[in-house]
Amino acid sequence: MYSDRIKELLSKMTLEDKLGQMTLLVPDFFDKENNVDLTGPFANLEFSEEEINSVGSILNSFSAEKNINIQKNYLEKSKHKIPLLIMADIIHGKSTIFPINLALGCSFNTEAMKTMAKTAALESSVSGIHLTYAPMVDLVRDPRWGRVAESTGEDPYLNSIMAVAAVEGYQGKDIKEYGNIASCCKHFASYGAPEGGRDYNTVDMSEGVLRDFYLPAYKACVDADVKMMMTAFNIFDRIPSGANTFLYNDILRKEWGFKGSVISDYAALDETMVHGFAKDAKEAAKAYLEAGCDIEMMSPHYLKSMKDIAANDEKYLKLIDESVLKVLHLKEELGLFDNPYKDANIEIEKNTLKSKENLQKALEVARQCIVLLQNNNNVLPLNPNMKVGLCGPFATSEDVIGTWAFEKGAISLSDSLKNSNIDITVAMNNELGSMQEKIFDVDIDYSEVSKLKDCDVILACVGENQEDTGEGASRANIRLSANQEAMIKNLKQLNKPVIVLLFSARPLELNPIINDVDAILQVWHLGTESGNAIKQVLFNEYNPSGRLSMSFPQTVGQIPVYYNHYNTGRPRTIEMRYVSRYLDCPNEPLYPFGYGLSYSNFEYSNLNVAVVGETIKASVKVKNTSEHKGIETVQCYIRDIKASVVRPVLELKAIEQVSIEANSEITVEFEITKEMLKFHNAKMEYVFESGEFDICVGKNSSEYLKETVSL
Ligand code: GLC
Repeated sequence: MYSDRIKELLSKMTLEDKLGQMTLLVPDFFDKENNVDLTGPFANLEFSEEEINSVGSILNSFSAEKNINIQKNYLEKSKHKIPLLIMADIIHGKSTIFPINLALGCSFNTEAMKTMAKTAALESSVSGIHLTYAPMVDLVRDPRWGRVAESTGEDPYLNSIMAVAAVEGYQGKDIKEYGNIASCCKHFASYGAPEGGRDYNTVDMSEGVLRDFYLPAYKACVDADVKMMMTAFNIFDRIPSGANTFLYNDILRKEWGFKGSVISDYAALDETMVHGFAKDAKEAAKAYLEAGCDIEMMSPHYLKSMKDIAANDEKYLKLIDESVLKVLHLKEELGLFDNPYKDANIEIEKNTLKSKENLQKALEVARQCIVLLQNNNNVLPLNPNMKVGLCGPFATSEDVIGTWAFEKGAISLSDSLKNSNIDITVAMNNELGSMQEKIFDVDIDYSEVSKLKDCDVILACVGENQEDTGEGASRANIRLSANQEAMIKNLKQLNKPVIVLLFSARPLELNPIINDVDAILQVWHLGTESGNAIKQVLFNEYNPSGRLSMSFPQTVGQIPVYYNHYNTGRPRTIEMRYVSRYLDCPNEPLYPFGYGLSYSNFEYSNLNVAVVGETIKASVKVKNTSEHKGIETVQCYIRDIKASVVRPVLELKAIEQVSIEANSEITVEFEITKEMLKFHNAKMEYVFESGEFDICVGKNSSEYLKETVSL
């Protein structure tokens, strides 16, 4: 498995050298030229010069010039000339920013995800970045959790195919090749299920639910040869994930055969003490090493505590050698020993970052992520000769690029419309501050509504500040702010069509406004080309094709609400008191998984399902009865009607995204194999059980044709 070069290198390394390779620091420690004084959380890390010079990795340094200098200065002092591994959080673009991942999931198009990853990899590699902490594949069911923005949603199948597309896009066929970077799947495991949707909170679920819902996308990354796995902050079964040998040794390494390296999340070793799991730094270091964590991110316990532990303990010396070999192997796979700078190039970087070609790719991906949620009386698409009123905090905002974007500034909707010579009038467009700064609403001068009285249509641009999304951004209330809701109601006095554009990074609670508006477009935080993508959909330069990858709840009180739920023994199939229901709210979400409208109209007919040998074959006719050519995502679900453990009422097993000409009809076919019908039984065996299956083919998880077969 390991080359002679790295085995020989290992043999020359001292214990300190080895523990250095197992440590990652922020670049500030290496940025001596700028005399970065290590204040705040870094100051108390007190590393010696020798320790810093032994460290093996850095994160979040973004320019070719800086990374070339850091690597050069580092190697000059490096005893064994082992290059630094330069990693970063490039999760939806590096300089050309693509839509947030929840929006990418709504494209239902793996090619869109792969385009993002390939473009991000190229821009990262010419800037001297070798690895990205992506894809984040945590399955999510709770929009109160800010990090739903980083996930592709609530479905194991969609998350898995999107995860593979991301890994393939970032890594290509060989991470050593030009323009490719290594990728790191995160956060293993089940970080997406914190109680109350509150970040870093307790996760508690059965092993069966973990395996059937939460693990598939991580496993898909491992099978796609992802090079690294990152631990999660949450506990699993009362043990901090990164110290959880069931997750890391039993499942990741033994069951799945993962040969890559594991990195802790940011200072997560410290948190084992806060959780009350490790007594002190030594216990923290031992626990993480015993669970196979190869690199400690931004905490000093391997470097500071593992020395004494391992000095006279073969068990830990062996574990350390295994970890160091994995780290050196990754650096060798990247070709860093032969070229420590890989693709870093200041001149090429200038011509690559945000190139016309990359921006065009971002635009073509972003428009696929927009979801048309409501379009009463077909008020959309708009006509370019219309007078368009623009209002709300996101009407002129450029801060809609999305969380974890290290480049700021998207093209605003207003600028995009102006560039297209659309006659716009702007009013009430103060930007919304951030709840992180204790700003919970936006000042709106409602008297400005009169400015819009001569417009033909009003675009109400509302949503949430991007700082209030992503990590550390949980919300207990997921409605629009009071003043944004009031503004929408105020617009009714104009008696004009009102179209709401939702600039959010999570499903919001929309019931308070849906009856006051004519159309709703979920436009997310779409990255650099945001305004242009929205403009193209508004004027039917692109017929909206997005479908929801996460359910929209009727109200926050309904959460968690997701399509692939269990039936319960008292489903609400009849209206009576003693069934599983709320007195004051339906059970169904406002908008279900897989839902999205188009300017076209797609009708399904002639579902034919047959068992052919060991597989189920299904075909269906899909007719576009409109004058607009459009893209439809035909969704194939199953229901395992009876099994040795209860099974979800519906499970997505395949999708076909097809373009259908106006007034045309096509046939779409699916094949369901026994392998696709497997699940974990009560003994955690991954099995197929014969029986009856509903095959459900349609436009979303609520609208489909159904046939039942036995297999
Ligand atoms: C953060 C995040 C993780 C990220 C890491 C490095 O805390 O949890 O997703 O990759 O630190 O920035």
